[in-house]
Formats: sequence, C-alpha cells, structure tokens
Amino acid sequence: MSGAPHAEAGFGRHAPVLLDAALAALAIRADGRYVDATYGRGGHAAGILGRLGEKGSLLAIDRDPDASIAAARQFGSDPRAKFRQARFSEISQFVADGSVDGILFDLGVSSPQLDDARRGFSFLRDGPLDMRMDPRHGESVAEWLARAGEREIAMVIARFGEERHARRIAAAIVAARAAAPIATTGELAALIASAVPGRKQGIHPATRSFQALRMHVNDELGEIERALPQAVMALAPGGRLAVISFHSLEDRLVKRFLRAASREDPAFAGLPGVPPGAEPKLRLTGRAVFADADEVGRNPRARSAVLRAAERLAA
Ligand SMILES: C[S@@+](CC[C@H](N)C(=O)[O-])C[C@H]1O[C@@H](n2cnc3c(N)ncnc32)[C@H](O)[C@@H]1O
Repeated sequence: MSGAPHAEAGFGRHAPVLLDAALAALAIRADGRYVDATYGRGGHAAGILGRLGEKGSLLAIDRDPDASIAAARQFGSDPRAKFRQARFSEISQFVADGSVDGILFDLGVSSPQLDDARRGFSFLRDGPLDMRMDPRHGESVAEWLARAGEREIAMVIARFGEERHARRIAAAIVAARAAAPIATTGELAALIASAVPGRKQGIHPATRSFQALRMHVNDELGEIERALPQAVMALAPGGRLAVISFHSLEDRLVKRFLRAASREDPAFAGLPGVPPGAEPKLRLTGRAVFADADEVGRNPRARSAVLRAAERLAA
C-alpha cells in the first residue's frame, strides 16, 4: 500500500475517557509505582506521570506496535517511565507480586486504531480486513473468516456483537467466500448490509458484527479473564485496581471478578476461621462511575464507559 508510513498513519489522538475519575480511583501517591496496562496514546499515562514525583514510576503496556512508537515519543528520556509491548495477560512476567501501588486497564480499542484504515478495524474506511491489535501475531479477521465454520461465525457474531441477525450474516459470509475470499473491510461491510433487513437510523448494520469479530480475533474477554487475577497479585496492600470497560460483556466480567475477590471464598462461608488464601483480596472502593453528559458531549466514546475500582487488602 502507498502513503505515509504505518506508524505515522496511526498517530491520531485518543481522548482519555473518565480521566479524573480513573486518577482518583488510583489514589496516586507521588512516590508510588503504577502500571497503565493499556497505554493507547498515553492520555491516562500522562495523567499518572503528572501526579508522580521524581521517585514515582510508571510501566506502560500495550500490545499494539504503534503504541510503542507513541510511548517512545511521549516518554522521551523520562527515567520514571518504561514501556513494554506485550499483552496485559502477561503482566506477571513484568511485575513482581505485591510490588505496585496501582494498575489501570482502559479496555477496548483506541481512536487511532479505529481511524487508521490500514489496521482494518473500521467499516467506514476501506482497508485490509485485519483488526488485530498486534498484527504480528494471531489470525486476521480475513484469515479467520476464510476458514471458520458457518455455525462458529454465527456464534461469535451473536455472542460478542449481540447481533440478532448473526445466522443470516454468517450464511452470507460463507456464500460469498465460496466465490472469492473476503479481503477488505468495505467488502465485509457491504456484505453485512445486504444480508441484514432494514436499517436502524444512525447505526451502520455492520457495527455489531465488526465489534464481535474484533473481540474474537484479539481474544479480548480471555485477555481480561487471565489478566485480572495477576493484577490483584501484583498489587501491594493498599494498592488500587481501576478498570474502564466499554462493552456489557467486559463490564460483567470485571464486576463479577471484583465482587468475588472482595468476598471470602464461598467454600468456607459459615465456617469458623478462614484459611490463608481464602480471605477477601480486595475491598471495593465505591460504585461504578459513568461519564457525565458534559464528557459524553465532548467525546461520544465515553457514552458506554464504566469505571470500577478496588483496593488490595493485606491478605
Ligand atoms: C481504549 S485504548 C487506551 C487508551 C489510553 N488509556 C489513552 O488514554 O490513550 C485501549 C488500548 O489497549 C490496548 N489493548 C487492548 N487489549 C490489550 C491487551 N490484551 N494487552 C495489551 N494491550 C491491549 C489496545 O491496543 C489499545 O491501545
């Protein structure tokens, strides 16, 4: 493909969502050690660094290679900041148990990922049908759609996209690929639009399917499931965990995890004495926080954001 180098194309801005609430939830100490598990374009990272003194530190993680380039630019030679290009489900490889004072997850995709047609996330911009956050690993959506069974495609679109026309869309994909591989976001968007009856005003008929396919090829829910227990173990007593979700399935997973970790192991409920390891590991620090109308007005992405937070207990 012609045009600007890939890293430049992905260099748009990302407005951080629930920034003040997330920083408050992390209760940042100037000399604390923090992890931003989803660096993106560093909006939250900048907020954290701005509250740290000389002795504080920040480890930023993102699986996207463009985020790595952005971090190198943002952090420059700041000795307090480090970046790792990795999946956040690998967090225990970089952070020792009990060693950090706060970890932030701001889930989902960044605006530059969506805006760069070459990443293949957007049905509004034609590009290769990819959608991998880390294009060096795993299968692109085009590769997966070329080999998956019709039932499997329908299940993914129904589950992650909550799309009621999932079976119809899967059938259309399987029929189309028999003639030629589905290679671009434009082809897939047009195919879905022609398979789905009617059209709700304002919502592109491919919205839910694209979201579902993105969540599937990046194993987004699996990543969260694997990362949260590691994050809890990485926190020092009194350390804070803050998670911003954008999808109801993500938020349900986060809510259930935090609730379970803030109770003693139910296997010991009602018994005298709780054995070591079965005590609650977290204390919820408040209710879920949503963006106010002002933030949603400035940044429509904030509309579906939910922040949940908890504090590590000494267990
Ligand atoms: C919503 S954006 C974060 C935006 C960031 N807080 C900011 O202010 O710029 C989510 C980021 O998390 C990254 N990401 C998503 N899942 C990930 C995972 N499992 N491991 C590492 N990074 C991930 C994405 O690549 C994306 O850059």
